[in-house]
Amino acid sequence: MPMSAQKKQKEQNRISLNTGFQRIKETFSILFTSRADPFIVAALLALLSVLLIWQWDVFRFFFIFVLLVLLELIVSESALKTVRFFQIHQQYRRTFYFLFFITGFLNILVGKYIGFQAMSPFLGVSLITVLLGKRAGQISAIFLSSFLILLFPSHSAFSFFLIISGYLTAQLVSGVDRRIELTFHAFLITLFNLGGYFFLVLSNFEIFSMRSVILIGVTPLVSTVLVIGMLPYIEWISRIYSNIGMLELGNLNHSLLKELMQKAPGTYFHSFMLSNLSESAAERIGVNPILARVGAYFHDIGKTKKPDFFTENQVEDNPHNRLNPSMSYLVLTEHVKFGGELARKYRLPILFEDLIYQHHGTRVQKFFYNKAKNKDTETSDDQYRYSGPKPQFKEAGILMLADSCEAAVKSLENPSPQKVQELVGDIINGIYLERQLDDSGLTLKDLEEIAQEFTHVIVKAYHKRIEYPKEAGDGTEESKPIIKTEEKAKEE
Ligand SMILES: [Fe+2]
Ligand SMILES: [Fe+2]
Repeated sequence: MPMSAQKKQKEQNRISLNTGFQRIKETFSILFTSRADPFIVAALLALLSVLLIWQWDVFRFFFIFVLLVLLELIVSESALKTVRFFQIHQQYRRTFYFLFFITGFLNILVGKYIGFQAMSPFLGVSLITVLLGKRAGQISAIFLSSFLILLFPSHSAFSFFLIISGYLTAQLVSGVDRRIELTFHAFLITLFNLGGYFFLVLSNFEIFSMRSVILIGVTPLVSTVLVIGMLPYIEWISRIYSNIGMLELGNLNHSLLKELMQKAPGTYFHSFMLSNLSESAAERIGVNPILARVGAYFHDIGKTKKPDFFTENQVEDNPHNRLNPSMSYLVLTEHVKFGGELARKYRLPILFEDLIYQHHGTRVQKFFYNKAKNKDTETSDDQYRYSGPKPQFKEAGILMLADSCEAAVKSLENPSPQKVQELVGDIINGIYLERQLDDSGLTLKDLEEIAQEFTHVIVKAYHKRIEYPKEAGDGTEESKPIIKTEEKAKEE
């Protein structure tokens, strides 16, 4: 075959492979982005599966199924409404029902072909809890256990016991951020289930058999292997990440973070400082510190496009001097838009994409607005606003506050604790009065605690930085007024 023909053939192969991948991707995206109510789709699947696998008569099935749907609608829909992030992203609801029915279906298969003892809500509850939170996990525990009552009415006592076991699973698994913890909790649940089984045997609800003991003992452990194996794929498809998945993104090996370090070292350092601030504040007010920290690493990822246009990366030259304010505004706003694009391209968590869009909210770029206003008094501040939206959840609010505080503190000449405290207080007040935090869910008490935590972290960070040259005996630094001496005196 001549070279050019070979090359063409290769090209064609690549194209068909690409189209193949594209098709697969489209099929999946229809599943996850379709407007059809995922509950109805998944419920129909469950209906079909039970009819086909269990060969129930239609009347009995219809009765029980309607009952289940009603129960499901009443309890889970009203409860899910109050769960964090379910109001913001439809994707949470989709993933909930998807996991719920898939793991329910697996339970039906296991019940049919292995035995009722191997049915357990552990798989579904732990997957739902680590991805969607404790409350969603608890709700699923009720329904996943009720499958068993429907299919094995003679073992209802055991199924009721499993509801408690499922609840406990959600409780235990909700704090998990390492895989090994999951296995440990599975072991605890196994012990609990076995204890429950023996209790039921003693009270004559169940008949003792070695087979039951083995199956009840093995199920949660096998489920853990499945959870750990399935988790990365579910995260990739749904873009809803567990703490385990987020921690992996935050190990600084991600190609986007490496690119940020190379192209925009100033931004990289800023993001790092921000992650400390956000993490401590999140921990203090009782929201997710891992989301706050790892989200902060990625919040300015869009600055990799034109790093030199952002102060933290400028050494001497400021390219904005050569631009008119409206152009500067466009370049600055672009880091948010481009960051969002990168988040989608790299399938970062949807919450990270939110953090990218929301960390500037709809704030005005005051410097360029004032510059434009000096030239043309007709300029309105709306022309110089970020596109938003405003922070929609607490971690996003924290990030917005931390972003402004971190930038402002850098310009402080003598960052004494009092000065830092005043500055942080002023910035938080300012953002609150701008009404940027209206949708974030942050209360005034939260803001107070965040201000205290920020001051604490900033003072600590500067403390070390200023102390270092003194120890090294660097004459140039020593000639500067060392504010820490007064701080130290206070501490002593
Ligand atoms: Fe930014
Ligand atoms: Fe930033």
